[in-house]
Amino acid sequence: MARSKNEKWSVQGKYVLITGATSGIGLAAAKELAARGANLGIVARSEAKANETAAMLKELTGGRAKVDVFLADLTDQRSIRRVASEILARCPRIDVLVNNAGAMFVKRIMTGDGIEQTWAVNHLAPFLLTTLLLKRLKESGEARIITTSSHGHKMAKKGIDFDDLSAKKRFSFPQTMTGGPNFRYGETKLANVLFTSELARRLEGSGVTASCFDPGLVATNFNQDNGLLARMTMAVMKRFSRTPERGAETLVWLADSDEVSGQSGRYYADLKEAVPAAPARSLEDARRLWETSEEQTRNSQS
Ligand SMILES: NC(=O)c1ccc[n+]([C@@H]2O[C@H](COP(=O)([O-])OP(=O)(O)OC[C@H]3O[C@@H](n4cnc5c(N)ncnc54)[C@H](OP(=O)(O)O)[C@@H]3O)[C@@H](O)[C@H]2O)c1
Repeated sequence: MARSKNEKWSVQGKYVLITGATSGIGLAAAKELAARGANLGIVARSEAKANETAAMLKELTGGRAKVDVFLADLTDQRSIRRVASEILARCPRIDVLVNNAGAMFVKRIMTGDGIEQTWAVNHLAPFLLTTLLLKRLKESGEARIITTSSHGHKMAKKGIDFDDLSAKKRFSFPQTMTGGPNFRYGETKLANVLFTSELARRLEGSGVTASCFDPGLVATNFNQDNGLLARMTMAVMKRFSRTPERGAETLVWLADSDEVSGQSGRYYADLKEAVPAAPARSLEDARRLWETSEEQTRNSQS
């Protein structure tokens, strides 16, 4: 139902669907959104962790919050398609979709869909989930789509390498100044900004907005599954990192604040709009990425 002119937007009583809420930034955001009166749908790969999170969120709100659990492995397009069907069947409305789950992989792993895994989880999963749920978001009258990007997008200085989408060059040795898993990760976070830009363009006049943000450097479980060296690096970085609650502040603000109503296609950091790097502002690359992503998700349709 459309809100009246004087009614301010907030998540109170709204339905927020969020990926990656079992840990780190997503968990901190889910707790705060539940505390502010949102009902939640959490999309997670581990049933045990998802149920534990749901129980925690219900307890936090004294049983008030409704928390639905949806299971999906975001490396697998068929799993995303299955969960989207389940969400459409169970959720009559979605007011906010938060594409937050993300990861970095030190090795080049190809998924069953033939996609390099960092690209699959960080870019194609938000793309596919969002496009599959778009009709429901539009039906909700006014809705928001928020994607967790990163300042790391600035590492992809030359933009998306459309000739090497499976990142053979990025992972090849010897690593160059633009090679290696960090740079691949940066490229996927650049894709988050370009995706938001093109999504916003396609959603113009629909009442649905798209935003992305940089949470800053945050102490979470990020990069903990990549061996001892990665864990040691993260332990050192922890000293300079924010808490997950601080990292989630801009996400919560984008979901809950009336201030950003109607704003679309923008990149934010620290509760304000920020300017992403030049490759993230290319409308041509944003369009090309959308078309490429459609192609890369087409085969899992049948
Ligand atoms: N930490 C930082 O400094 C930082 C900085 C900039 C941007 N970010 C971005 O912030 C987002 C959240 O990361 P975080 O730092 O909070 O890391 P995290 O603590 O590792 O949380 C990542 C979340 O994503 C989920 N996830 C990962 N792979 C998945 C898959 N294949 N299927 C389903 N869910 C999956 C994880 O589920 P499990 O609990 O099952 O592992 C977890 O809930 C990511 O997009 C990341 O790129 C982080």
